[in-house]
Amino acid sequence: MLSVNDRPGLQAFCPTIMTYAAITGWGKCMPPAILTNDDLSTFLDTSDEWINSRTGMRERRVSHVSAIDMSVVAVSQALACAGLEGRDIDLIIYGSCSNDEGVPNSASGVQLAIGATRAAAMDVNTACTSFCYGLATATAMIRSGMVKTAVVIGVELISRFMDWSNRNVAVLFGDGAAAVVLQASDVESGLIGSVLGCDAAARETLRVRGLGLSYANKDVRFGDTIWDFDGPVIFKRAVTAMAEASIRVMADCRLTADDINLVVPHQANLRIIESLAKYSGIPMERVMVTVHKYGNMSAATVPVALVEALEDGRVTPGATIMMPAFGGGLTYCSLIVKWGDRVTPLGLSDKALPPCTKTALELVNESRAVHDAHGRSLAGLMSPEFVEASVALR
Ligand code: ACO
Repeated sequence: MLSVNDRPGLQAFCPTIMTYAAITGWGKCMPPAILTNDDLSTFLDTSDEWINSRTGMRERRVSHVSAIDMSVVAVSQALACAGLEGRDIDLIIYGSCSNDEGVPNSASGVQLAIGATRAAAMDVNTACTSFCYGLATATAMIRSGMVKTAVVIGVELISRFMDWSNRNVAVLFGDGAAAVVLQASDVESGLIGSVLGCDAAARETLRVRGLGLSYANKDVRFGDTIWDFDGPVIFKRAVTAMAEASIRVMADCRLTADDINLVVPHQANLRIIESLAKYSGIPMERVMVTVHKYGNMSAATVPVALVEALEDGRVTPGATIMMPAFGGGLTYCSLIVKWGDRVTPLGLSDKALPPCTKTALELVNESRAVHDAHGRSLAGLMSPEFVEASVALR
């Protein structure tokens, strides 16, 4: 293996390499309520056959608690895994586009709950790539010497703002959370290469109307959303962006597809993952897939898949892992992580979610009963200032 100072791409990333940012802890929190394709068919004109054959999805989770609550469980597991406590943490990065509140920020809620009294706490929102952007940010801060120990979270609570009347999007998404702990290390490990980018020309192809201040004072009830979502355009641009980023980051690190032991990609559609694997030259046997059981959890997708890869024994000591992702913006990235020696947790936390007394379908039907995007909130959500530009991109 080359030393990091031999790699031109990495010298650009951090000119004076002092240290690495090893991933020493990992944990997830999957809410227990499972929403199946058949559940969706009870209120949408869709079917298990359509959803499974077009996306690879069979079920997804619906949370009965807040995004911060899910995060706290995931972080508690990650800290126990690393053998650390909240007070050991210097930095918390909360990657998400579904914040419980705008102010105060979400990372501060996690800081309070885990007793990380010394930690800086910031939210990062690049939609589905938020965890990966957060991992890159925390790594850069550790490698530059600003902090020594960080927690990076990927969490999403999409069920609360889903437009449950739109079969184009309602079948695709789920809730969940996962987190990792990063620690300064002299041993080459953690994030060793990254390509981060944004295909902003296509930003209007994925817009959740109703989720920002542009909709204030327009008689839009918070929670009511209408999604501009051009699936075929996003599909093509996602494959191109993730494949090109993956090829670039491998070249930057002087690695080939044969050197990648495992790909942990964003999970928006099984067909996207298969195309990405094909263009990157990596067989599906070396790709982690969770889309069938969790759908697309946006920022939570990559870290949950990483945690499950560790639980399943698919991450071996010293493994080279590639993590391509894309999301609203359209932000994209591909990261390369070199794993350390330890692939098992040092400890486990007994922190868990409170029991859920409702089925996922009951939780969704409660949201459906109060959402009225296409009636009460329609005029504000469809204000003329929000132009749809996706047609030109086809
Ligand atoms: N059930 C049944 N029929 C459906 C459904 C559904 N849930 N959704 C769409 N259809 C219909 C459409 O109405 C259309 O019917 P028509 O031919 O009569 O007009 C037909 O199925 C085909 O629709 P397409 O959109 O062409 O279907 P496609 O094969 O492209 O699959 C999909 C759609 C799954 C959305 C795909 O385009 C995709 O995965 N795109 C990328 C999505 C994505 O990446 N999202 C994440 C974005 S970033 C982030 O992670 C937040």
